[in-house]
Amino acid sequence: MNTPAYHCENPDVSIIEPRHFASLGKAELYELLGHYGVVLLRNCIHNAEDFSAYVKQNSSRLSLDPARVMVGGAAQLVDAGRQAIGLHCENGNSPFWPDITWFYCQEAPHTGSQTTLCDGEKVLAKLSSACRTFFEDNPIRYSRTVVGDKWRRLVCHYSPALSDPAAVGIEDLMQIIGDDPQTQISFNPLDDSIHYAFSTPAILVSEFSQRPAFANSILGPSFNYEVPVIDTSSGLPIPGEFLHEIAEVSAQYTYPVGWRDHDMVMIDNRRVMHGREAIVDERRRIFNALSYR
Ligand SMILES: [Fe+2]
Repeated sequence: MNTPAYHCENPDVSIIEPRHFASLGKAELYELLGHYGVVLLRNCIHNAEDFSAYVKQNSSRLSLDPARVMVGGAAQLVDAGRQAIGLHCENGNSPFWPDITWFYCQEAPHTGSQTTLCDGEKVLAKLSSACRTFFEDNPIRYSRTVVGDKWRRLVCHYSPALSDPAAVGIEDLMQIIGDDPQTQISFNPLDDSIHYAFSTPAILVSEFSQRPAFANSILGPSFNYEVPVIDTSSGLPIPGEFLHEIAEVSAQYTYPVGWRDHDMVMIDNRRVMHGREAIVDERRRIFNALSYR
């Protein structure tokens, strides 16, 4: 692929300036995402409504995180605590795993408090053969309980005919999951919660890049939900030596976005993991949207 004419500050990120934004079509945007894994659109979008509209325009459909509040139809304010958040693929520990994660930074923090990025292709290339082989041979499994309010909202989002969470039944959720062999769900009528187990490879081939990457949520904690148990699909624990190795290698390839006001970032959510530094600056207003290609 020819390197685009506009400049790139970071070799891992394609940066779009306003003069190029106007003529940037979906096909070219996707091509850039496939090449770089991250596209940063600088000073091109100026409010959450335009952000939502842009996401809709460049996606087949939207996903949603039912733990967040929706703004402008697609955007959700990022608000989960102040602690640092480990690397993860957004909702990558569930069957509702979006292809693209978007962030729009209305107000950038002056100090720290950055969103972080880590290209799973680079991580994969650096893993020892023992570690890589372990993850190639053993799909990982995330299991946890989700309260009624959250799974019911999710069902409403994915079922156009349903708008009242109180009217949703467990069979409606099962219908969305279908016969997906990766997902097992049990319903607890006593407290209206579900318990799910979702199995998936830790190394994926992104449809944007067509190349494998170490892309998963093993290192990412969970704030709005119960913390999942993470093991392998056969019930074995992930060996501590491999957990240590992936944390060490990932850290070498993790860097901050370097937010400026009105930056928008588009991330290949099956290749590039993201996280967050601890929030030390109250000046930070960042929206998130999730969608499918
Ligand atoms: Fe996230």
